[in-house]
Amino acid sequence: MSKLSGKVIIVTGATSGMGLDSARLFLKEGAKVVLTGRSQEKLDSLKDELHGDYILIKADASSTEDSRRLIDETVAAFGKIDVLFFNAGVFVAQPLGTITEETFDYIYDINVKGPLFTANLALPHLQEGGNILFNTSVSNVKGMPGVSVYGSSKAALRSIVRTLAAELAPRNIRVNAVSPGPIETPIWGKTNLTEQEIEGFAAGVSQQVPLGRFGSGDEVARTALFLVSDDSSYITGAEIPVDGGMAQI
Ligand SMILES: NC(=O)c1ccc[n+]([C@@H]2O[C@H](COP(=O)([O-])OP(=O)(O)OC[C@H]3O[C@@H](n4cnc5c(N)ncnc54)[C@H](OP(=O)(O)O)[C@@H]3O)[C@@H](O)[C@H]2O)c1
Repeated sequence: MSKLSGKVIIVTGATSGMGLDSARLFLKEGAKVVLTGRSQEKLDSLKDELHGDYILIKADASSTEDSRRLIDETVAAFGKIDVLFFNAGVFVAQPLGTITEETFDYIYDINVKGPLFTANLALPHLQEGGNILFNTSVSNVKGMPGVSVYGSSKAALRSIVRTLAAELAPRNIRVNAVSPGPIETPIWGKTNLTEQEIEGFAAGVSQQVPLGRFGSGDEVARTALFLVSDDSSYITGAEIPVDGGMAQI
């Protein structure tokens, strides 16, 4: 039997990368999936390639108003919410001395404020036995130059996972995180890093990652599937690294 049949799952930031790979896998496993993104054009381009029971909703992860509409439209379409996968995230590198308030607010609004307030609004509709999954990052436990803002935003999510897991356990709602290391996704083309800087990082990956390579979005999606399905029914408050050993060894 499919692992997610009958489940209603919202995946934020599902127009590319790990969010899209996860949404595809959840659909394959029988879920009804709500895919969000901030670009209508990118959402529209998915219509030809996705199969299954899904809807596409334009919702900026940093906007509480959009989150409210996202929840209303999800409940109107599918009647309930079983799983929230907070995947949408942005990465900007700014070493100390160059950090701007604008970048801080941009990253924290999307990476931290959005997920927390969306969960806040979605709670009345979240089903007993459901769960919330956050996409964190290896950078919440590794000191990496230039990522004090991004890394701390992901560390905030790690903390939120523990607190919400404690709050929601009495309702049998689990809360977990998947924590990727370097994963080959379009995010690298959206950062403020130069091509040379990205190439330098990529070249260094074999030294930093015991498995010596970037991971794939699908490798993260398979872990996300484990965490949102009943296969992980006794796991809550946890963060599973998918990082080729980068933060483990
Ligand atoms: N790739 C890595 O090495 C890595 C490592 C650790 C953690 N992560 C985390 O993994 C998650 C997924 O990233 P990815 O690598 O798969 O990158 P990605 O391909 O850029 O996917 C991110 C998704 O989030 C969307 N998004 C960004 N800002 C949004 C907003 N304000 N509202 C709604 N959607 C928004 C993006 O849409 P647009 O296309 O419009 O930007 C895209 O669909 C992120 O939280 C990231 O921080 C990535």
